[in-house]
Amino acid sequence: MPKTPLRSAEPATIALAASILADGGVVAIPTETVYGLAADGLDPRAVARIFAAKGRPADNPLILHVAGLAEAEAIAAEVPPLARALADAFWPGPLTIVLKRAAVVPEIVSAGLDTVAIRVPAHPVALAILRALGRPLAAPSANRSGRPSPTRAEHVLADLDGRIDLIVDGGPTAHGIESTVIDLSQGEGAPLLLRQGALPREALEAALGRPIAEGGAEAAARSPGLRHRHYAPRARVELVAREGLGARAEALAAAGVRVGVLARAPAPPLPPAIPTLAAEGGLEGYARELFAGLRTLDELGVARIVAETTPEVGIGRAIMDRLRRAAEG
Ligand code: TXA
Ligand code: MG
Repeated sequence: MPKTPLRSAEPATIALAASILADGGVVAIPTETVYGLAADGLDPRAVARIFAAKGRPADNPLILHVAGLAEAEAIAAEVPPLARALADAFWPGPLTIVLKRAAVVPEIVSAGLDTVAIRVPAHPVALAILRALGRPLAAPSANRSGRPSPTRAEHVLADLDGRIDLIVDGGPTAHGIESTVIDLSQGEGAPLLLRQGALPREALEAALGRPIAEGGAEAAARSPGLRHRHYAPRARVELVAREGLGARAEALAAAGVRVGVLARAPAPPLPPAIPTLAAEGGLEGYARELFAGLRTLDELGVARIVAETTPEVGIGRAIMDRLRRAAEG
């Protein structure tokens, strides 16, 4: 029997979630990207419970989720015009904006930085809970630190049963990959992409009318999360281009390695002894099934996952970022 209740996202569950959160509890909630592990973002003791439940390093700051731009204004020192333009274009949605933080934001949320990451989730359940609570929710992805992010309520249960107060089941998440993180805290001239995500960089650049700098030492300095181990299943992950997938999997199997394949449909023809997951729906479909696929293959007991690489365009950029980190172990 699970120790943490898992309830479908009916109105009574939303009311229960809000009351647990108002009392300083931690609740896993669905968003359009991945499941988040939420607590009252202005209550340092509640936020500390998120870090404890996940085993998250204290130097990795959390995103504050809010119901709209007005609520974002209350937690940022300032919302510059560029941030306002991006918020107008993409909120609610999978874009997180890093701004200078207001004094109400607890140190623990920002891990001591002078900035705060903010996003308005595009999910009716997340928004309903935010509105019922009337306060920002700190919420990292609801996985044990280092594991693949959860895209279904069952993934949260597998990682965090007995460590959190409630799991709100809103079904599989729409994007399957986390939000894109852009840092606008250093002034209008210096937007910096800190994390590729569900909102493609091309969409951001089109909205801004110019290219955005990405990654490098500057991003590493500004985004502590980039330094930590991430997205790793228990099996070792190997990245292979589509043409070579079948041959590589068969060679590993012939050498006695228990191997599974994560690919885009149609699946390469392989013997039934090699578990093969093939995501339908193009790059979006692959993104949606990526983390779930890594978890499923782990459960099947494979020692090696051969995963198909994708072109680095649109959401393919985020897919390749996550796959590379998964492969780093
Ligand atoms: O889609 C998402 O973003 C999901 C859902 C639940 O909203 N959340 C999520 O949170 O992925 P998390 O904690 O797993 O990833 C947040 C990322 C981390 O890389 C963290 O380092 C970065 O955002 N971050 C948070 N606050 C920051 C800040 N003030 N400055 C720079 N980076 C920050
Ligand atoms: Mg995470």
